Amino acid sequence: MRLRRSSARASAPGKVVLFGEHFVIYNNPAILAAIKRRVNVSVHVNDTASITINSDLGLVGSLKDSRFKVLKGTTEAKTILAPLCECARRVLSERGCNLGLDIELVSNLPESVGLGSSAACCVAITAAVDSLFHNPDRYWISAKAAESERLIHKDSSGADCNISTFGGLMYFIKSKGFKKIHSKKELSLGLINTGKKHSTANLVSSVKEFKDNNRFSFKVLAILSKNISQKAYVAIKEGDEKMLGNLMNQNQVLLQEIGVSDKKIDGLVDKCLANGAWGAKLTGAGGGGSIIVLIPPNEYSLKIFFHGVGKNMWSGESIPVKVDYNGVLVA
Ligand code: PMV
Repeated sequence: MRLRRSSARASAPGKVVLFGEHFVIYNNPAILAAIKRRVNVSVHVNDTASITINSDLGLVGSLKDSRFKVLKGTTEAKTILAPLCECARRVLSERGCNLGLDIELVSNLPESVGLGSSAACCVAITAAVDSLFHNPDRYWISAKAAESERLIHKDSSGADCNISTFGGLMYFIKSKGFKKIHSKKELSLGLINTGKKHSTANLVSSVKEFKDNNRFSFKVLAILSKNISQKAYVAIKEGDEKMLGNLMNQNQVLLQEIGVSDKKIDGLVDKCLANGAWGAKLTGAGGGGSIIVLIPPNEYSLKIFFHGVGKNMWSGESIPVKVDYNGVLVA
């Protein structure tokens, strides 16, 4: 395919998992929301035949002839940037091109805390590189980005790339795809970053180990998770926030059972509920990461909540968060 321009920009949002993380890998439903925090990517064609990524994390790496080299940063640069360079290379190869690219990555999503930053990077890079050739198709972007995200964590359900591409709120099943959820009321959500980074791949393996060692219990927990997601789908559509909060709390118990919560998360969840939240749970892989909270949407409750839970009481932050309805954007 012929190039139609020599540079492009794209951005993609992060996400929260409202219901069904981990169980979604085993084909149970999950509910996700895109959030108004984005990864921004700009791509320029160069004549070096290498793909170089410069990230605002202070890391630079380059891929040439299947070899990745760290140009700035420690081994962390390889872990983060090598799959992203490969993501860009795969798009070029799909379009029958062997170009060099300079890619700038600027993110306002903290990484490794359950907010889908790797998926958002894969989606934004896939979209930006593909838009050098034509107007990219969203279904193609999401599928291609999910393939690349599996270089980062091989058992990914693909949910993160779908929500980052399409935005909004969605009910997702791995084998069936997604349906958008039209929420009757705007969700009043807060997000707490525990400040403790996790490895999604390690947590997904630990849940697999739990499943293999506790087959019957896992089956029961998966059925409960499925029921919770189904009820939550109805509660979002009908604007029943109290029910939604209650379901979040039930979901958190299941996540504790499969061993992905920890003392810090449990303590924060209790603190949120004590300060008036309707529901609170970890979001994403767990083991640290972030907590999503549903707060009564009146000014008084919000003030009490953010005052009570505090902004800097822990290494992380507690902030209000809004649903992003745009998904991936190409410029
Ligand atoms: O923590 P994150 O953003 O990587 O979210 C992972 C969500 C899981 O359900 C644990 C994994 C997946 O692929 O769906």
